[in-house]
Amino acid sequence: MPPESFRCFHVRKTGNGTIESSVESRPLHELPPGEVLIRVQASSLNYKDALAATGNPGVARNFPHVPGIDSAGIVETSDSGKFKPGDQVLCTGYEQGAGQWGGWAEYVRLPADWVVPLPDGFTLDETMILGTAGFTAAQSVLSLVEHHIEPDRGPIVVTGATGGVGVISLMILSKLGYDVTAVSGKPDQYDWLKSLGASNVIGREEVDDTSTKPLLKARWAGAVDTVGGNTLATIIRSLDHRGVAAACGLVGGTDLPLTVFPFILRGVKLDGIDSAHCPYDRRLQIWNLLAGDWKLDNLHDLATEIKIDEVDVTVDQMMQGKTHGRHIVRPR
Ligand SMILES: NC(=O)c1ccc[n+]([C@@H]2O[C@H](COP(=O)([O-])OP(=O)(O)OC[C@H]3O[C@@H](n4cnc5c(N)ncnc54)[C@H](OP(=O)(O)O)[C@@H]3O)[C@@H](O)[C@H]2O)c1
Repeated sequence: MPPESFRCFHVRKTGNGTIESSVESRPLHELPPGEVLIRVQASSLNYKDALAATGNPGVARNFPHVPGIDSAGIVETSDSGKFKPGDQVLCTGYEQGAGQWGGWAEYVRLPADWVVPLPDGFTLDETMILGTAGFTAAQSVLSLVEHHIEPDRGPIVVTGATGGVGVISLMILSKLGYDVTAVSGKPDQYDWLKSLGASNVIGREEVDDTSTKPLLKARWAGAVDTVGGNTLATIIRSLDHRGVAAACGLVGGTDLPLTVFPFILRGVKLDGIDSAHCPYDRRLQIWNLLAGDWKLDNLHDLATEIKIDEVDVTVDQMMQGKTHGRHIVRPR
């Protein structure tokens, strides 16, 4: 029997517009509608969650809000024939933790169409070490593969390399035999990035060209960019002929100061990566890759575990760009 109430990380907007948050017990009926009630075993902390936890209206669109764009757990009740009590399941993205309450909670209630059965070869915790970050990394790498960027085409550059998406991208690319250059603002983590598969690590300033040159020296066959802004613009101008940039992030800015020359003179391609609303079939394909041929042996080394009662401290560090790797969030 589901309980009458559940603990969650509750974010509120006060009368004077400031954001406050606390771990609270809320009645179960406050959960959004959905066919599947899931007892959450683990969630995770992504940059988008840090935005939601601090009340960013672009992510937390209604208040009060419960962050957590990822959740993994056991089905408690189901009104859908697709799932039954006791099934191990996960959900990343959709409106979870954005337009509706998410996984930083003992329970989530979700539409059955958002719920993915635990892929063979994975534990629930492993799926949350990956979470949206790992899913987005895999989607980005798949974009390069599908655009025929094979390992012999040349080096791949990965930005925000110590972050969730960055580090998992570099690990998958390295596993697949690519030569990866990691870009990081954390010199104290360069050795760590090399131990995870980067063949080269460079500072952020090396991909932040402020000249007005429409094209720069060709350095990369492909890119996974989590930073956006002038970093992405610099990388696009530095891609080799027919190079591809998979772009998912905005930690460094949302503008894209560019000309059309990289596209029309070098045949460069820019592929936008959207994980939240990735179609269900594609989603299953990516989870099966992550659990199968692309499975990372050292996943547990990436993750730090935090309880929802302590997550606000790590959220502050993430907003200052001071975290590295992945964080599993435990609701109890
Ligand atoms: N489109 C999608 O579906 C999707 C899905 C997942 C994530 N994202 C986006 O991808 C980005 C990364 O997400 P995440 O969860 O991996 O975040 P994260 O774990 O916080 O990692 C972000 C990394 O970016 C670097 N960074 C931070 N501030 C920076 C700045 N001002 N300039 C340049 N680099 C900076 C840092 O790495 P270094 O110190 O190593 O440089 C940091 O560790 C975010 O913008 C997120 O919203 C998008």
